[in-house]
Amino acid sequence: MFVADTLSGSKPDQYSQLLAQARALMHGERDRIANAANLAALVYHGVPQLNWAGFYFFDGRELVVGPFQGLPACVRIPLDKGVCGAAASTGKTQRVADVHEFPGHIACDSASRSEVVVPLFLPGDGSLIGVFDLDSPEPDRFDADDQRGLEAVAQAFVESLA
Ligand code: SME
Repeated sequence: MFVADTLSGSKPDQYSQLLAQARALMHGERDRIANAANLAALVYHGVPQLNWAGFYFFDGRELVVGPFQGLPACVRIPLDKGVCGAAASTGKTQRVADVHEFPGHIACDSASRSEVVVPLFLPGDGSLIGVFDLDSPEPDRFDADDQRGLEAVAQAFVESLA
């Protein structure tokens, strides 16, 4: 049975523990839904002050909600809409301190105040898989350490699919 130990130490230390837990959870498994579902649960329960953590997958036209933890979310997001669309279309992580200030932010849960969205690309051909999205009810919840730590977890996810 997989047991996620409580994260401890500095924030970078906590993210390296989280990454190790993520790798252990996905070890030997390539199924996208299985790994995304377990990562959403791991991150939601391991990272403090989140109200949503999960995945949107690119279906060739737009982003479609995948495995997540949190309140029910909007199902489809066009690439030119929202923080998720911005991450997918620019290929760059979007770290938004105040979602109310982000033009076109899509409010799935009115409690959300800050957000980070990491785009996901297949390691082989670089094609867009989707995005990894985290929301917090705290303004300015995510700093550069959070971004680095979450990008590393997202990278482990895309590598698990290869
Ligand atoms: N806020 C996102 C939409 C997805 S929810 O946060 C789960 C956005 O603006 O793209």
